[in-house]
Amino acid sequence: MTDNINKKPPASIIFIFGGSGDLTQRKLTPALYNLFIDGWMPDQFSIVGIGRSIYSDDKFREHLLDGIKQFSRRKDEQNGKWKDFSERISYLQMDVDDDAAYKGLAEKVKAYEAQCGFHPNVIFYLAVAPQLVPDIAKRLNTLQLCNEKHSTRIVVEKPFGHDLESAKKLNSLLGELFSEDQIYRIDHYLGKETVQNILAFRFANALFEPIWNRNYIDHVQITVAETVGVEDRGGYYEQSGALRDMVQNHILQLLCMVAMEPPVNFEANEIRNKKVAILNAIRKISREDVHNYAVRGQYSDGWMKGERVKAYRQEEKVNPASNVETFAAVKFYVDNWRWHRIPFYVRTGKYMHQKTSVINIVFRPAPNYAFPPEAAETWRPNRLTISIQPEMDIRLRFQAKQPGQSMILTPVDMVFNYKDAYPEEHEPEAYETLLLDVMEGDPSHFMRADQVEAAWQVVMPIIEAWEQRQPGDFPNYAPDSWGPEDAEALIAKDGHTWITLPSK
Ligand code: BG6
Repeated sequence: MTDNINKKPPASIIFIFGGSGDLTQRKLTPALYNLFIDGWMPDQFSIVGIGRSIYSDDKFREHLLDGIKQFSRRKDEQNGKWKDFSERISYLQMDVDDDAAYKGLAEKVKAYEAQCGFHPNVIFYLAVAPQLVPDIAKRLNTLQLCNEKHSTRIVVEKPFGHDLESAKKLNSLLGELFSEDQIYRIDHYLGKETVQNILAFRFANALFEPIWNRNYIDHVQITVAETVGVEDRGGYYEQSGALRDMVQNHILQLLCMVAMEPPVNFEANEIRNKKVAILNAIRKISREDVHNYAVRGQYSDGWMKGERVKAYRQEEKVNPASNVETFAAVKFYVDNWRWHRIPFYVRTGKYMHQKTSVINIVFRPAPNYAFPPEAAETWRPNRLTISIQPEMDIRLRFQAKQPGQSMILTPVDMVFNYKDAYPEEHEPEAYETLLLDVMEGDPSHFMRADQVEAAWQVVMPIIEAWEQRQPGDFPNYAPDSWGPEDAEALIAKDGHTWITLPSK
């Protein structure tokens, strides 16, 4: 990231509702500060944290600096720019239910406008509990400045709805208050460098597109595994579970990136149209059939990397008889010409053996008749592995002749590794990319209303079937494992196994 002199976004005032909360301290401020250090923040900007807690501006800045020291990717770097940056931060203590307080926001904007000498971007970032979003949005809408469609934006964090119906309701409410161009629904996976690179990999290279279809691909696997439990988010997680927390959004977005048709251009709506087309093409599983397509799990107590950990049901703010899933595995089919009959297996879970987000494209086996059977004992089909995190690489597996006098074939990898290829570059965090997009007014990497609803439509039969039939076997997997045995069976009955790469 150099040469960004002329590409800075226009002057912006950013209001963060939930200013004293976790997301602001852990993700948003470190991201904004990194953008500042890298020269991407507008020349004129102002950040206003809004919250119920009482802070002076100075105390608020100290609180944010603490967050940067703990959570920023640059936490160990002293770069001396904090003073410059923090002078633009202020705090507004207000109750979000208090109509009168919203006038204070309008006044802040007016004052800032006077300071800039022109009307700046006005960004409202709603880093608040989902139930607060409708009321805040309604009150913001009473402010004249929200009619400025080009410069006023509202950013909404996930979860976006609890199910299809609530998502539709929220969309329709926001749609009445703001134009779709003003609404930025965040799915932070779309801001990850390695996720954005999937489009470059697929559509900037001529090599893969001709084989990117059912004729050459046998199946696709997407794993998003975490080594943490629900931590202190038991209260939230009880309303969510792995399917709502990870599959409905992050994993389906990854699936869309792998499965979408080539876009005609890189306009936000063109990309999103192509993704919606995939979501709409995903086969709707009938409720009766869900057990053939989806597996759920919940972690027991046990050992995680040498440490004793609690079962999900013993976590704080969790019902001791909870049936909420902390693991989900699903087999999807995309019923279109390109992907007819090709399974997409996805899985995600807490307290998994290894932290890894990875996509595996497994190709059909080669006809190996030409080689004697003993040459081909370890013959494996070609495989393309896209590691999203923590490893960041793309590897293509193919067969090679093992050196020696006999013809023995073994699989080897051809690897592109970010750190080796770009040793000088440091990849931005997802929130950096997304916040910059908001300031620039580029919604390509945000969820459009119909995208969110189409994704809910995909998972609704599973949610309904699981709610109807309570699991009899929870907890059914131990920490530091790969989830319940049924997840192995889900894929094994099709003759496959889950791919796990050795951790580094
Ligand atoms: C969030 C989920 O959206 O994504 C969390 O609510 C999860 O439960 C997190 O831990 C994972 O994000 P990342 O970027 O660490 O893979």
